[in-house]
Amino acid sequence: MGRRSSIIRTLRDIAFDLSDAEHPDLASMGREIGSALHGRSTDLATMLGPLRERRRGFERWILAERTRPPVSMLVLAWPPGYATPVHDHGGLWGLEATIAGALEVESFIKDDVDHSLRSSGRTWLGPGDATWFDATESHTHRCRNLSRHDTALTLHVYGGDLAQYLAYEQPGPSGHWIARPRQSIIAGRLTA
Ligand SMILES: [Fe+2]
Repeated sequence: MGRRSSIIRTLRDIAFDLSDAEHPDLASMGREIGSALHGRSTDLATMLGPLRERRRGFERWILAERTRPPVSMLVLAWPPGYATPVHDHGGLWGLEATIAGALEVESFIKDDVDHSLRSSGRTWLGPGDATWFDATESHTHRCRNLSRHDTALTLHVYGGDLAQYLAYEQPGPSGHWIARPRQSIIAGRLTA
């Protein structure tokens, strides 16, 4: 409790305050969350350090959620070298920031007509850096922990409960993409 837990409340308050609008200002949310992540890095390391030591694979932890307006916050733990498939976010807006470690994020645009995916660029996120996307069906991305040795931690804010999403694969040499529904499995809840 006390100061050790208040970083979670700080992050929750930023996300809740800035997601009250129908179209949240995600650039502002990214700046404020990045600033909190930088300024409270010692508290975060103390609070979330155990998640880096668990070594239980890729895990999602609920940090906070609200139904009206809908918003959910999660912390994800990324094993060394772990990469997601290309995935969407169920049509929700979202913001993803690195807490510890470094991630590569490659974004794709989905063609509404033939459902093909086209890479639209890569970015690299160190501690406090964020990427975000609006509520659209066409945005997808693939993320990878750049470290071969250390677990990375990331903070995710979504405009609702991301219980289901689509993962995309290219099973054959034709380059054709297939979408498969996935469930978000939650490891537990982090309390403030
Ligand atoms: Fe994502």
